[in-house]
Amino acid sequence: MEKKKNTRTAPSALSEAEVAKRVEAILGRLSLDEKIGQLTQLGGADFNPGPKPEDIIRKGGAGSVLWLNNTKKFNILQKISVEESPSKIPLLFALDVIHGYRTIFPVPLAMASSWDPSVAERAQTVAAREARAAGLHWTFGPMLDIARDARWGRIVEGAGEDPCLGAAMAAAQVRGFQGSYPGSPDHVVACAKHFAGYGAADGGRDYDPVYLPESQLRNVYFPPFEAAVKAGVGTFMSAYMDLNDVPASGNRFLLHDVLREEWGFKGFVVSDAFAVASLVVQGFARNRRDAAFRALSAGVNMDMASNTYPENLAGLVKDGTLKEADIDAAVRPILAIKIRMGLFEQPYVDELKLAQVVALPEHRKEARFAAQRSMVLLRNEGGLLPLKKDLKNVAVIGPLADSKEATEGSWMVFEHKPAAVTVLEGIRSKLPGAKVEYAPGPKIRRDIISEFDDMIPGAKKVVQTPEQAEIAFQTAMDTARKADLIIMVLGENADMAGEAASRASLDLPGRQEELLKAVVALGKPVALVLLNGRPLSINWAAENVPAILEAWEPGSEGGNAIADILFGDVNPGGKLPVTFPRKGSHAPLYYARNLTHAPESIQTYRSRYWDGPTTPLYPFGFGLSYATFSITNLKVSASQVKVGKTVAVTADVTNTGSVAGDEVVQLYVHQKAGSDSRPMRELKGFERVTLKPGETKTVTFTLGSAELNHWSTSAGKRIQDAESFDIWVGSDSLATLHADLKVVS
Ligand code: BGC
Repeated sequence: MEKKKNTRTAPSALSEAEVAKRVEAILGRLSLDEKIGQLTQLGGADFNPGPKPEDIIRKGGAGSVLWLNNTKKFNILQKISVEESPSKIPLLFALDVIHGYRTIFPVPLAMASSWDPSVAERAQTVAAREARAAGLHWTFGPMLDIARDARWGRIVEGAGEDPCLGAAMAAAQVRGFQGSYPGSPDHVVACAKHFAGYGAADGGRDYDPVYLPESQLRNVYFPPFEAAVKAGVGTFMSAYMDLNDVPASGNRFLLHDVLREEWGFKGFVVSDAFAVASLVVQGFARNRRDAAFRALSAGVNMDMASNTYPENLAGLVKDGTLKEADIDAAVRPILAIKIRMGLFEQPYVDELKLAQVVALPEHRKEARFAAQRSMVLLRNEGGLLPLKKDLKNVAVIGPLADSKEATEGSWMVFEHKPAAVTVLEGIRSKLPGAKVEYAPGPKIRRDIISEFDDMIPGAKKVVQTPEQAEIAFQTAMDTARKADLIIMVLGENADMAGEAASRASLDLPGRQEELLKAVVALGKPVALVLLNGRPLSINWAAENVPAILEAWEPGSEGGNAIADILFGDVNPGGKLPVTFPRKGSHAPLYYARNLTHAPESIQTYRSRYWDGPTTPLYPFGFGLSYATFSITNLKVSASQVKVGKTVAVTADVTNTGSVAGDEVVQLYVHQKAGSDSRPMRELKGFERVTLKPGETKTVTFTLGSAELNHWSTSAGKRIQDAESFDIWVGSDSLATLHADLKVVS
């Protein structure tokens, strides 16, 4: 019996009871100060002010260290902790490993574009293996914030606008990072962040307050987090901003009522960086002491970097404001994770292992595969793509064409040296006999440089006078004139999306569109490759450039994967996980909105804004292929279903093209009437299928209470109405193949 259980989970997974017993044994021997040390996460990088990490650790003042990426130093600090500190408890080393440690995968928004959760799971498995070999135990990922505002820079870190796709990607990433249980060998503990609602910041401005009614929180923003809990995520991170006037890092509704009471989360919560101290800035806590009290009482186990816990918790216990039992409760899940990670048995990392692990050829192969699966073909007029390999004279133009940083994208781990294959390199290796000339054109840069740019190699060095830019523009034009075909590589630098990297406009930055127009005016075939971390309003390109490939920030093997697609070795099959608005000022724009007074018919242009269409430039779920597909024969297993029961929805998808390819079949529903107004459409199922020319497959979805219920404002709880539903199945969120379903009581 015991044996069977172990083989199913994992050979060395400890039982709950065993872990709890060991936790109590350790807790019993700790002083109050040593316990508070466990609740403290310390910045390990040299830029941290104050006492040296070594000295704090020696006194037992830290349970975890972040912002350090140095295998040797991990062992040095760990030795101090387990041999010299009073409690001798090993440290947890944590870092943001968001889309790869050394082998960089596509950014999470790109991986979501694969509509294939196994892509994200495989990628994060590799990321975890490398990170663990480097000596890390814990990553601050996955980022699970639904983002419906393309101006918000952190849209790049998540899975886009949709809770159904987001939940699938959340669970997959947790499985990838953690393996079958938190503590699996060659894996790291995952952290679901930022709980919750961060993606709905006012105006898309990072850190600005969020106002979300409970229906939005529960129907849209919570599902990826709940999916992460169900997948066994070990830790959560509380968000920075105010949620409905209560800071997320002091929010007991989020961190206690929902996370622990409703969802049964047993792991621990770390605040976002300095977020506990920020409770004072937010006008919530009176002072740092009050901040420590309110964060701990709300459910934040560990203070990331703001040091409020070691400063104040002991005093709060001594004066009776907190009980020592409150501290014990916060410490327990932290010790439990350390036990599960096997750190008491093996606190050190083998310093030779990382070099072997990162050299594994399958890691680069996985990165190339993930990048291929993630790209979205937005336009292919006249079948310009795929290109022929007998091209003789190609120009590759644009500021990102040979940029390793832009190819790997935002959120590199500390001290990472970009090592991506660029688009230029990828194209050159596909065309060994051809002349492939390159000209960057004018450089692009952020208008306002942030302190985070120090972490992005080269970001601050991008300076060019207008005269130099003009020369670069003309050189690019000369290069384009001499070529038979031009591949433009445009978009955003790595520092243009991510934390503190929101924008008011979604246009191509700098002179890129001007250059694009001038090159297209030469009358030669032009293919546009986009490298970017958010939707861009490429309205002109969408009408005038025959071929557009959305490659996102595709990672270490990005250039090769792009060339694989451009030259037809791989057929693109990704779909957009976000709506592309026509303007930044249209954001937030998303498909699953409620229909209101004026329907989306002839009124659309006049009633929403009179100065132009507000329809998306590209809808959610959209993406082309070198093949064509038809989706037919939609069937619902019964025209009526009882509340709580399920029906099967099937449709046939056929490859009507001449090459093999992938289609993502998508199921949308709409509740026509009921307790509350419901969105025009909501994604409730999807499947990416590969089909040979002429081949047909039947795709089956299940619709039951989980898909047809909602959290109701009117009822104040989750309900399933007995009402009529529209069902659509198709290749994007504008699907027209329709059926009806009646839910009866
Ligand atoms: C970010 C988090 C990140 C943390 C640690 C914060 O600024 O919001 O996403 O995990 O820093 O680096």
